Formats: sequence, structure tokens, C-alpha cells
Amino acid sequence: MAFLELLFPDNDPITKILRRIANIAGRVGIEVYLVGGVIRDRILGYPTKDIDIMVIGNGIEFARQIAHSFRLKKVLEYPKFGTAMIPYHDIIIEVATARSEKYDSNSRKPRVSESDLMQDLARRDFTINALAMSLNNETLFQLMDYFEGLKDLDAGIIRTPLDPVKTFSEDPLRILRAIRFATRHGFKIEDKTFRAISRVKERMEIVSQERITDELIKILNVSNNPSRGFYLMKESGLLNIILPEIVVMDGVDQRNGFHHKDVFQHTLQVIDNVSRVSSKFELRFTALVHDIAKPLTKKYIDGKGWTFHGHEELGAKMIKQFCKRLKMSNKIMEYAMKLTRLHLRPIAIAVEGVTDSAVRRLIVEAGDDVEDLVKLCRADITSKNPRKITEYMNNFDRVVNRIVEVQKKDKLRAFQSPIRGDEIMMYCGLKPGPQVGYIKKAIEEAILQGEISNTYNNAKEYLEENKDRLLKESQEKFN
Ligand code: CTP
Repeated sequence: MAFLELLFPDNDPITKILRRIANIAGRVGIEVYLVGGVIRDRILGYPTKDIDIMVIGNGIEFARQIAHSFRLKKVLEYPKFGTAMIPYHDIIIEVATARSEKYDSNSRKPRVSESDLMQDLARRDFTINALAMSLNNETLFQLMDYFEGLKDLDAGIIRTPLDPVKTFSEDPLRILRAIRFATRHGFKIEDKTFRAISRVKERMEIVSQERITDELIKILNVSNNPSRGFYLMKESGLLNIILPEIVVMDGVDQRNGFHHKDVFQHTLQVIDNVSRVSSKFELRFTALVHDIAKPLTKKYIDGKGWTFHGHEELGAKMIKQFCKRLKMSNKIMEYAMKLTRLHLRPIAIAVEGVTDSAVRRLIVEAGDDVEDLVKLCRADITSKNPRKITEYMNNFDRVVNRIVEVQKKDKLRAFQSPIRGDEIMMYCGLKPGPQVGYIKKAIEEAILQGEISNTYNNAKEYLEENKDRLLKESQEKFN
């Protein structure tokens, strides 16, 4: 097929590997196909790194033959699944025995038996992932498309090869994969397939949290429009099951403030806004959770409308629990907590007038993430009123200018007391303990308040002058 040759041009490194594999297959007389996401991604024009090879026969034995011919020592074999992995430069060649799978109702782990090409493709998740390309001499590079995957790729449709209830029940992680592919490519999930998601969604309970979180991360990362994935999860009822902390935002009104949507819609808009300016996962995730405490802090005040007093502080606490449940790393958790805690500060600075010490405090508390914080704040403006948008954005511009000015003046970026704990201990005759921290904090505070500048000499002078007072205060506090 000419079009497949276009997708795999002769000088392409993947094509060269495929031709070598086809030659080996011809030599040993075994039927072999290229399968999986690589065909889909090539057709859609995405770069590909992994090669999935399906063998009608013994996949592990064939993997050894590839490794031998490529002069590679390392083959990772998984006899239980009839698969093997061969790392080759920055490419992973995965070789699998064509198989059919039978699932027990309470497990994602299948019982596997050998099969032919058609059966192997039929057990796969979506028609767009059930394409195969021949690596056999007479039919080299011919597309095997038993389930109209090419048509679905062209029309932008996610559909399962078999009954979707069966495909999703067997491996419910596929529900999230459907949503991920729909989000990534802007595809539609075919009606019957979508209805099956609603029917089968409770089976997500057999999927480990790590795998669910992994897919959620991908949904946030794979496009500049992650909201689509969240709307699909909401609409199918999946969000209730996997993200109950987020679904409660739905219907929480926030009119009368500068927002005109409910908290859920507003949050999704913030995610998209942030995604347009940053591909950083941590920031996209923070956009998802920055208003997590609004449903709990919501209060109607006459003449003022809805208020969410303290949602930034409570939000930070809730994020801690949320990240632990999702098994997110501490690094992501701390970042999201910090930015959530600070996300109202820049606007407050802009509105209430910008004193040097307020700006300093913000720079110090946000540390290296101060630019991300401003990105989040700008993304947080979801008003549709162009006059208001301009006004708020101008406010942020003023804050950013002030940040840059104060940063230049104070070189506060990596702020810490210029006098280290060891020196405080020596000078004040203290042993390690909370008194040292108290004195260090007092020096930092004096710098933040603009009483002294951020230099060693000034800090030392301050310590000398205030030593007796600080020792007395800290002693009273801790002894
Ligand atoms: N597959 C499946 N069900 C799953 C995971 C994978 O049927 N839960 C099948 C699909 O045919 C898929 C192939 O196994 O194309 C390879 O899986 P994987 O490498 O995980 O996914 P890709 O489709 O290649 O895409 P991505 O790497 O983006 O997940």
C-alpha cells in the first residue's frame, strides 16, 4: 500500500529496524506483524519511539532471534505473558506472542492463550489501536484492518472492536484510555462505546490507584485542552468514582465575584488557560485543585454575593489529603499546596497597593515558582467581560513589574538569612534547637520588613544589636 510506504520512508530509523525484523522473520519462516500505537501515531503524524511486534508463534523465541541478529545481549523476557522487551538505543522493541485473553471478574490480569492475528487484534481496546502491518515478505507493509480502524482514525472516532461492555469490563483502565485518546486527538467517543463507559464505570475499583493516576496525569498532559477529558469523565459519571473531590465543585455557584461560571466550569477553564501557556504538569494539576475548598467555604453574604473565605488555606490542607490518596509525589503535592495558598496574593497586592514588604514576602514565599504563580493567577481570570479582563491583566502586569524591581533591588531569589544557624549558635552560645530557628526567623523578618538589607554585614549588625532581646524572647518561648 503506497500510503503505508509514505508513513515508513526508507531512510527512517524505525523503517530500517522493521525491514531487518521482516528479514529475520522471512529467514526463520514465522508470521510477524507491527501492531499497536505506532501505526496510529504515524498516521496521525506523531513521533514514535516504541515498536510493538506481534508474532504468530513463539514471541519470546523470536525476540531472542532479533537480539542475536542485532547483536544485543539484553532481552527482558516475561514467559507468563509470552512477551519480551529489547531496548535498542532509545527505542524499545516489544515482542509478543499473538494471544487471546480471558479475564476473571475481579482481576485485570488475564489468562492468556496463543491465537491468530484476528483474535489478537479483536481483544484490543479500540479500533484505532487494532491495526496491524505485515512484516512478511509477500505482503510487506500491507495494512491489516479488520475493524475499520483506518476509517475511525480518519473520522476521529473512538470505538471498541468488540462489544464495548466486554472490552471495558475485561480491563476497565481502557475507560480512561478512551478519554485520554479523545482528549489528545479531539476525537469523539462513539455513542455505544460511551454508554458502555457509564455502565461499566464501577469496575474501576479493580484498577490500582497508581494506574488511574498515571492516566489522569496523561489526560492533563496530552493536549492544550485537557478540560475535554474532564467533561467526558463528568458526563459519563466516571468523575464521581475516581475524583469525588472535584465533582463536588459542579453546581457551586460563584456569580457576583469576578467569575461567571460554577466552580467546576471555572476550574476547567483555568486548566485550559494555563495549558495554553505552559506544558508543566505541576501547574496544570494545581489549576485543577486550586479552588478545591470552595464548596466547603462557600457562604452567601447579602450585598456581597457568594464568598469563599479562607478557601486558599483550607484548599492547601485538602490538597495534601487528595495527593496522598492519588499517590502523587511529595514534590507535586508541595508545589500545588504552595501555589494554592498564595493564589490570591498577587491580586490582593494589585488591588490594595503594592508595598515593598508585601512584594518581598510574596517573592520569598513563592521562591522559584513565582512566575508559575503569576501564570496561574492570569489563568484564573475567566471573566467574559473584555473590559474587566484588561483591567485584571493590567493589575497583574503592575505586580510583575514590582516583583522584578524588588528582585533586582534585593536579589531575594534564593532568600535565606545571610547568617546561618551555625553562626547564630556560636555567637549566642546556643545548642541546636528551636531557639536558633527563632533568631534566624527574626533576622529574615527584619529583611522582609525592609528594616535591614539582605547582606551579611547588615544581618550580623542586626544580630549583635538585638542578641540579648532575641535570646530572652526565644528562651521565654521555648523553655
Ligand atoms: N492495549 C489494550 N488495552 C490496554 C492497553 C493496551 O488493548 N489497556 C493494546 C492497544 O492495542 C495498544 C497496545 O496494546 O495500542 C499497546 O499498548 P500501549 O503501548 O500501552 O499503548 P499505545 O496504544 O501504544 O499508546 P500509549 O503509549 O499512548 O498508551
